Amino acid sequence: MWGGRFAEGPSAIMREINASIPFDKALWRQDIAASKAHVAMLGKQGIVSQDDVQAISVGLDRIAGEYAANGVPEDWNLEDIHMTTESRLAELIGPAAGRLHTARSRNDQVATDFRLWVRDAIDQVDAGLAELQKALVARAGEHADSIMPGFTHLQTAQPVTLGHHLMAYYEMIRRDRSRFADARARLNESPLGSAALAGTGFPIDRDATAQALGFERPTNNSLDAVSDRDFALDYLMAAAQCSLHLSRLAEEFIIWASQPFGFAALPDALSTGSSIMPQKKNPDAAELVRGHAGRIVGCATALMVTMKGLPLAYSKDMQDDKPPVFEAAGLLGLSIAAMTGMVAETAFRTERMRQAAQLGYATATDLADWLVRQADIPFREAHHITGAAVKLAESKGIALEALNLEELQQIDSRIGEAVYSALSVEASVAARCSHGGTAPAEVRKRVAEARRALGMDGAA
Ligand code: ARG
Repeated sequence: MWGGRFAEGPSAIMREINASIPFDKALWRQDIAASKAHVAMLGKQGIVSQDDVQAISVGLDRIAGEYAANGVPEDWNLEDIHMTTESRLAELIGPAAGRLHTARSRNDQVATDFRLWVRDAIDQVDAGLAELQKALVARAGEHADSIMPGFTHLQTAQPVTLGHHLMAYYEMIRRDRSRFADARARLNESPLGSAALAGTGFPIDRDATAQALGFERPTNNSLDAVSDRDFALDYLMAAAQCSLHLSRLAEEFIIWASQPFGFAALPDALSTGSSIMPQKKNPDAAELVRGHAGRIVGCATALMVTMKGLPLAYSKDMQDDKPPVFEAAGLLGLSIAAMTGMVAETAFRTERMRQAAQLGYATATDLADWLVRQADIPFREAHHITGAAVKLAESKGIALEALNLEELQQIDSRIGEAVYSALSVEASVAARCSHGGTAPAEVRKRVAEARRALGMDGAA
């Protein structure tokens, strides 16, 4: 491609270190779409003859067919997907192929292709996350009344409902989707026509190519357009955040499925056995989702460090932008699919969860709240009285509500018979009806809103 200037070809090492075709062949669909939009515009603007435009377009369609059928050939001499396609085009249509690159550079070409690829990746992630949300909301609706211990510090804190717990992840995923949507809105400008770095003197129509490729508008600065990859970083950072949520959700399932907890039986289809211990059923899919989060965060870090300190405009370092994005996209897609299956298919052991909620004095706060409300005791004092009751119950090895009234009144004479109605786990969750609280009625409201937002009950 640049033989005019060079006396010798590249060394074997140069060819190998330079080649991006092994990974950027994943951009072939975007590359061909962008080339077709570019050449159609060149024709309309009278920069390339209609005959040549026609030959180039037909040739590009044919190459797309070949790639779809046989894959993209990997010749390191051709470096990347752009030169691979152009070289094949020359084989197919002869010298007219050379007109395709008029008023264009690989710098704006790759920036355009990559934006298109990331935009598609965002659309796929969004669709996957919507499915995960639907699974969460469906299970939350089923378990709006199922009581489990809520934890802080992984110590039993207050009873909550399983529906409430699952809806917490619905909210996290809702924010993840909005982060991806923000990233999409920002990336949707077309770099095409920025050429190498300075723009071009040919009378091109950047609005036309932007529109043909579904971009909102052309980018405003050619140097910026060919040399920033913040759109890829926006994607990776949204992916990293999302992977953290998925990892936490995976961790919950791992804990719930452990024998000492026994809150859940994970689907066989997403578990593995042990080669030596016949009784084992291991939560490998969930563990890999947890593990993948580390790799996805690593991908975001890798590209940040690659970009740091690069002067304007394009530098070859930027060729390394693609592997981390492709890797993160693959890992994230798998993680979302695995967690969707896990949420949809896990059997929850609600009786066991309810029993666990009754251990650990989870309704101690309800006793304190009762003292505040019914006996007009300041909360700090009520907290102290309740602490004494918990201590007594613990020394006897019984639940709070198993203390008799006499015992409770010895701690504080203002405690009355009516307190027992506040001490059950059912009463505890039902009482927490503040907006966003765990009360079953409240959880049902949130589930209904979510079902509407996701279009789960027919028309959205
Ligand atoms: N393979 C290159 C990349 O992915 C294409 C751009 C090359 N531009 C250049 N000036 N060498 O970044």
